[in-house]
Amino acid sequence: MPLFGAVALAIPPLIVGLSGAATADVLWTALRIAALEAFTLLFANIVTGAFRPIFNQAFGARLVHRIHLVTGISGLSLAIAHGVMALVFGIAGYLPAPLWVGPAALALLALVVGTALARRRFRSSWRRIHRLNYLIFVAILIHGLFIGYDLRSDIFLKVWFALYAAVTVAGYVFRIPRAPGGAKVSSR
Ligand code: HEM
Ligand code: HEM
Repeated sequence: MPLFGAVALAIPPLIVGLSGAATADVLWTALRIAALEAFTLLFANIVTGAFRPIFNQAFGARLVHRIHLVTGISGLSLAIAHGVMALVFGIAGYLPAPLWVGPAALALLALVVGTALARRRFRSSWRRIHRLNYLIFVAILIHGLFIGYDLRSDIFLKVWFALYAAVTVAGYVFRIPRAPGGAKVSSR
């Protein structure tokens, strides 16, 4: 798992670096790397969230929860950084509908992380709200595929992220019978 994580995190700067458009504008390069890294971290969250029972057995519940927490907060932070950089860089010229999916997804992500961190207060609703993560993942994929320079032009990145999407669907399917309220779900 650590090796896969390292490879997954190395892919965004490599793809952007080799894109031939890395030195055109520092801000543009940074916002693309931040976006792809944020997406990678959010995928890590989906995996450690959905397949948590399996990971708990392999690595222990404490460590898995810590990783979930750290990747969640870092993913949100990078997503915010990406959004701010994109606004400073300028959003004119991008297809409006997929562009505006970005801020909407960011707002939902902040809601999901906020309610998860304060889940003792949102005892009855946080899990239902947490399910929005799957939707956020799909929304961001659409956002990136339509307006992202790298996601539009790099075939390897498309295939790699399609793999993430397939694992996410598998995670969702795996998770349904272990839905909130079920005995198999821990509340750590
Ligand atoms: C950083 C704050 C976060 C905290 C404290 C947190 C906490 C948790 C907890 C306690 C679980 C339940 C695990 C279980 O019952 O086995 C969970 C599940 C899950 N988490 Fe998070 N999480 C956070 C952020 C995120 C983010 C940012 C994502 C994805 C983008 C995510 C995706 C998931 C998924 C997909 C599940 C499985 C839920 C289901 O299908 O019902 N989490 N999370
Ligand atoms: C205020 C919110 C947001 C704004 C204004 C925004 C804006 C943009 C823009 C303008 C692009 C195209 C950049 C390019 O020329 O390649 C883009 C791409 C992208 N965005 Fe966002 N976005 C926002 C939120 C998000 C969030 C929350 C995520 C989640 C991780 C995200 C992930 C991505 C990804 C993966 C790409 C594709 C990058 C690439 O292909 O290089 N965005 N965004």
